[in-house]
Amino acid sequence: MTNRYWRIARRPEGTDFAHALELADAPLAPLAMGEIRIRNTHLSMDAGTRMWLTSREDGYQPPLPVGGPMTGLVLGEVLESRADGFAPGDLVRAFGQWSDVSTVDAVMSGALLLDPTVEDRRAWFGPLGMNGWTALWGVEQTGAARPGERVLVSAAAGATGILAVQIAKLLGCEAWGIAGGAAKCAYLTQELGIAGAVDYKAADVGAQLDKAGGFDVYFDNVGGPLLDAVLTRMNHYGRIAVCGLLADYTAGTRTAPKKFDQVLMRRLRIEGFFSPDFMHEGPSLTRRLREWVEAGDLVMPYDVTQGLENTLTAYAKLFTGANIGKVIVELEQ
Ligand SMILES: NC(=O)c1ccc[n+]([C@@H]2O[C@H](COP(=O)([O-])OP(=O)(O)OC[C@H]3O[C@@H](n4cnc5c(N)ncnc54)[C@H](OP(=O)(O)O)[C@@H]3O)[C@@H](O)[C@H]2O)c1
Repeated sequence: MTNRYWRIARRPEGTDFAHALELADAPLAPLAMGEIRIRNTHLSMDAGTRMWLTSREDGYQPPLPVGGPMTGLVLGEVLESRADGFAPGDLVRAFGQWSDVSTVDAVMSGALLLDPTVEDRRAWFGPLGMNGWTALWGVEQTGAARPGERVLVSAAAGATGILAVQIAKLLGCEAWGIAGGAAKCAYLTQELGIAGAVDYKAADVGAQLDKAGGFDVYFDNVGGPLLDAVLTRMNHYGRIAVCGLLADYTAGTRTAPKKFDQVLMRRLRIEGFFSPDFMHEGPSLTRRLREWVEAGDLVMPYDVTQGLENTLTAYAKLFTGANIGKVIVELEQ
């Protein structure tokens, strides 16, 4: 059987993914001990993977090799298994390949058996997946948000941010979001009912932030100049939970805050966090997130693109801001 997969032909410039990634075919090799084969039903589009496509060696993981397959979270059924604990037909999530079929080492890929009774399996990528874990951890642990505090989240209409603002609200905080454009801001305030939203694509970002007032926690997905704008609007003893640096991913820049002095002046704590570091907390995070989802208190809009061949269109949305909620590619079965 041959397998279609996205091959990294060269490192991308900006958002020119079509020049960097090509749809290729390869025969499936026999399974090695410890491996499972997954028929991918869904691919998760995650902004952080853009960093893996660069050549930088000082990231939180080494660069993906040119010539190899593009890697990302996948969801699907086990076709074949040579790993303990996995059998054909099992629903799993793993770090696999952007392909029809993923072949992975069960342990190294973090393959996880999923409860097939969850009605919408896409939730395993959204609120019950890495985005959910990251949002809950970032607000509650790294941000140390307490009831009544004011929590600001950037990229608030994207997958991670949309969960972070809702979780902040569920934990009794006053949740604010930063997002690009009036439609996204209206979604956040009117559909999700958060306290307020700042449109960073409008001219008066500083004035909008001043009007909003000071913040105790900043859940930052973006870095860049927005971080400077927020640093001067943090309350004393505030916490900045650095989740991601979207401003840098396609621009190839490195966030270097000009207003770093505010960390001292306002006695701020600034700390990065990374989901693999709290993977062991996954079951308890999932349990809590699932309760909120089943009660209808935590929602996720999905932006779904059909077909493996259209993956790059879906991926680009993360960097152009074309999505509200979780970007997913659904594969034909
Ligand atoms: N630390 C961790 O363990 C961890 C885990 C998961 C995700 N993350 C991070 O979470 C962030 C969000 O990732 P995601 O996969 O959930 O993507 P996403 O939020 O669904 O999509 C990215 C969104 O970011 C906004 N954006 C893109 N470029 C921007 C820029 N230059 N300035 C401001 N906003 C920009 C866009 O919305 P607008 O229209 O608002 O611009 C876009 O919709 C990323 O930084 C990612 O690295 C971190």
